[in-house]
Amino acid sequence: MNATRDVCENTGLVRLGQKAPSFEAVTTHGTLKLEDFAGSWLVLFSHPADFTPVCTTEFIAFSEIHETLRAQGCELLGLSIDSVYSHIAWVRSIEEKMGVKIGFPVIADLDRAVATAFGMIMPGESKTESSRCVFVIDPQSIIRAMIYYPMSLGRSTDEIVRIVTALQTADEHKVATPANWKPGAEVILPAPSTAEAAQERLKTGGPGCRDWYFCKKKL
Ligand code: BEZ
Repeated sequence: MNATRDVCENTGLVRLGQKAPSFEAVTTHGTLKLEDFAGSWLVLFSHPADFTPVCTTEFIAFSEIHETLRAQGCELLGLSIDSVYSHIAWVRSIEEKMGVKIGFPVIADLDRAVATAFGMIMPGESKTESSRCVFVIDPQSIIRAMIYYPMSLGRSTDEIVRIVTALQTADEHKVATPANWKPGAEVILPAPSTAEAAQERLKTGGPGCRDWYFCKKKL
């Protein structure tokens, strides 16, 4: 067996461009399966533990982007290795103490089946908790982006919305998005892949082209 593959299989590492691992899990909204989200985008994110301060700020921040994501055809699904009763109590406490209603479901992954399949447990950080992982999964259940944050660092939910918007824009218009791209900014044309096409691009690319491989345009 290939050593690199062995390591990856044992750690449940998922990869960009591959199908997300299938799951069926107990959540605060009843039992949910990956297949329930087929046909829509999905942001699956894990947090270390209920009733912890950074995670509470994150849940509030995720709740603030929930409607924005839904308007873009993207669902939100949380996860931690806590019981569904703990999730229910924490979500109720956030509503009561912070005035924020958590409308998205949260997986109670007590047997760590989903966390293990997605590689959400980082033993160097914690052997018993999931880390702050984010998986952006497309309507065909393909993993399109992954972000991992350490325990001490609360996530930027603006970045998560930016990622979903950028991926949807790239798919729709067959373009790429440059560093720090925001909606409305110029996008990048795919580079030509033959010498002939490169020459043609230089001739016809217009003012958005700085070189044969570097062309931007407004959508
Ligand atoms: C927190 O959410 O505050 C937290 C959770 C686990 C480890 C460290 C911080």
